[in-house]
Amino acid sequence: MRTTRFVLACMVMFVLVVGTSLAQNKFSGAKMCAACHKSGKGGTAFAVWEKSAHANAYKTLLSEEAKKIAKEKGLKVAPHEAPECLKCHVTGGGTAKNIEASFKKEEGVTCEACHGAASGYKMLHSKGDLAKSKEAGLIKGEKNEKACVTCHNSESPTFKGFKFDTEWAKIAHTAKK
Ligand code: HEC
Ligand code: HEC
Ligand code: HEC
Ligand code: HEC
Repeated sequence: MRTTRFVLACMVMFVLVVGTSLAQNKFSGAKMCAACHKSGKGGTAFAVWEKSAHANAYKTLLSEEAKKIAKEKGLKVAPHEAPECLKCHVTGGGTAKNIEASFKKEEGVTCEACHGAASGYKMLHSKGDLAKSKEAGLIKGEKNEKACVTCHNSESPTFKGFKFDTEWAKIAHTAKK
């Protein structure tokens, strides 16, 4: 009985500790990933992302089209200041408090929108211990439609449908080429 209680208490502690450390992970921004993910062992992820629509997602909110949509929706502020738009056009919704100085909302939908806030895993994950990296907060974007459709859904004012295979092909990237 005693030992069961002890084991339970340990499990609760573990969940609390891991839970809080993940909650405290901070968004670092895309620039620091570039150092290792433009070419070489880390692969070409940055080069792919930089040219993708995701890198432009914040700038899109400054466009005339965006202003028109915001007006039709009756938003009181400009789209690039509206949480209703930022929630999908910027990593962390543009309102996250857990950001490092290197994080720039102008970078739009960055690596960390899919791979998790990086402060805990960025120095660790390149050693190749995937289990440890995941414990530290790395989301290895399992080829998983679920992650995409948190933003690619009918709540998007310009939504025209989403097919994972075709859309992933446009932004596909791997670790080693
Ligand atoms: C110091 C260099 C370095 C930096 C900085 C870096 N990475 Fe990596 N990353 C690597 C290397 C090397 C690998 C390949 C590890 C392996 O498979 O052995 C890797 C692997 C990955 C993987 C695949 C993990 C796996 O094991 O399959 C992801 C996802 C990833 N990095 C995301 C990021 C993100 C997001 C950033 C920026 C927040 C970042 N990395 C910054 C070097 C780096
Ligand atoms: C944090 C929200 C978010 C997540 C998560 C997300 N996207 Fe996006 N995605 C966007 C936004 C916003 C745009 C529009 C950017 C723009 O045009 O300014 C976009 C645009 C795209 C485009 C370009 C579409 C086109 O025809 O121009 C592709 C391709 C895409 N996303 C694929 C994916 C895939 C695949 C996933 C999942 C692995 C994913 N996205 C996850 C927000 C997201
Ligand atoms: C639920 C997530 C989500 C929300 C909320 C959202 N967007 Fe988007 N937005 C997207 C995605 C995903 C795309 C790219 C594909 C699509 O249109 O579904 C996109 C694309 C766009 C585009 C480019 C369309 C094109 O044809 O290239 C504009 C402009 C835009 N959004 C403006 C806005 C404005 C303004 C708001 C706020 C009123 C907003 N979005 C809210 C997810 C979202
Ligand atoms: C829209 C979501 C999204 C964005 C943005 C994104 N990734 Fe990924 N990433 C994925 C998905 C999904 C995979 C596929 C993982 C798989 O094959 O299971 C992946 C795979 C990877 C891999 C390869 C893992 C492997 O085993 O080969 C690396 C490395 C990586 N991403 C790094 C990055 C970096 C660095 C950035 C930013 C420059 C970035 N990613 C931006 C979703 C994303």
